[in-house]
Amino acid sequence: MSAMPVDQVSMRRGRELLARARLDVEPGLRAWADRLPPRVRPLAGYHLGWLDEHGRARAAAAGKAVRPALAFSCARAVGGPPWHAVGAAVAVELVHAFSLVHDDVIDRDETRRHRPTVWKAFGIPAAVLTGDALLALAGRVLADASGPRSARQVALLADAVIELVEGEAADVAFETRTDVTLVDYLAMAGGKTAALMGCACALGALAAGADEARADHLAAFGRHLGLAFQIVDDLLGIYGDPAVTGKPVAADLAARKKTYPVLAALASDTPAGRELASLYAADTPIAGDRLAQATRWVTEADGRALAERAAERERTLAFAALAAADPDPDAAGDLTALAHVLVHREA
Ligand code: FPP
Ligand code: MG
Repeated sequence: MSAMPVDQVSMRRGRELLARARLDVEPGLRAWADRLPPRVRPLAGYHLGWLDEHGRARAAAAGKAVRPALAFSCARAVGGPPWHAVGAAVAVELVHAFSLVHDDVIDRDETRRHRPTVWKAFGIPAAVLTGDALLALAGRVLADASGPRSARQVALLADAVIELVEGEAADVAFETRTDVTLVDYLAMAGGKTAALMGCACALGALAAGADEARADHLAAFGRHLGLAFQIVDDLLGIYGDPAVTGKPVAADLAARKKTYPVLAALASDTPAGRELASLYAADTPIAGDRLAQATRWVTEADGRALAERAAERERTLAFAALAAADPDPDAAGDLTALAHVLVHREA
């Protein structure tokens, strides 16, 4: 019998960790979401996946549980039991949920995880209020999880939310800017995506009794991984299979988003890069044949390859930060597998 290639073993371990984190976070998530008042509770349950539009129970919870998985594994990385990080895991997943519900309103995106978005199903006012409730609930959960350095954890979560908002605001500003650089992009994604992933790692570690220095190294691990994750998300927004991603084909190009592959293509000083620049500057809709052409230009101008390389670079930096945290070897293997699956995911 031939052994499975290392990558496949790592991918499987990473997927199993995500599935496990989903199971471990869900009871707490449900118990807390059930405490919400009746006008927002069904919408929270809808977004989190266990209710349908009519408030009826449905089978599957939604989302990959990336941030809870980071919190649990970082608790183990510092020698603690993962269940010490349940409150942290629930809190970061609730912040993530809040941010997606509001982001879909901001972007007017109509589908997420193969279903109508909350605003599409229930209207914008109800979606905004549901996001607000999820955010407040996250703080409430953490305030309740009395563990080591709990005040520090509440402060870190609040700081991450503020960074998230600043990153989202920068992303919105990108829509009307014509001078966005890759440096601007890294600052934006550092707030929009990396801050909460770094926070998930730090909170998991602190909940398990880590000192500040170790928690800082793990936060840096999560941030670099978050940047890699966002760049991969950008690649999926152009090249992802709609049947797998749950979003329309090349949706980010149709929306003229200034994502990593696009910015790299625009900066490439190639004929394809210039064609893409004039298409982005025009006000004709990017759809149908034009969308397929735009996708080819990004590839020809090396946007795809440069983005893949940037994601690899961030993953390497993440591993350096992980090593500096002097992690428990088995948990380090888990975090390495998670990094692998996040960078090579298809949705
Ligand atoms: C997908 O996560 C989410 C991201 C790549 C982060 C995007 C960040 C925002 C939309 C920031 C919004 C901020 C505000 C303040 C509105 P995922 O693939 O883990 O999603 P999943 O839970 O569906 O798996
Ligand atoms: Mg968006």
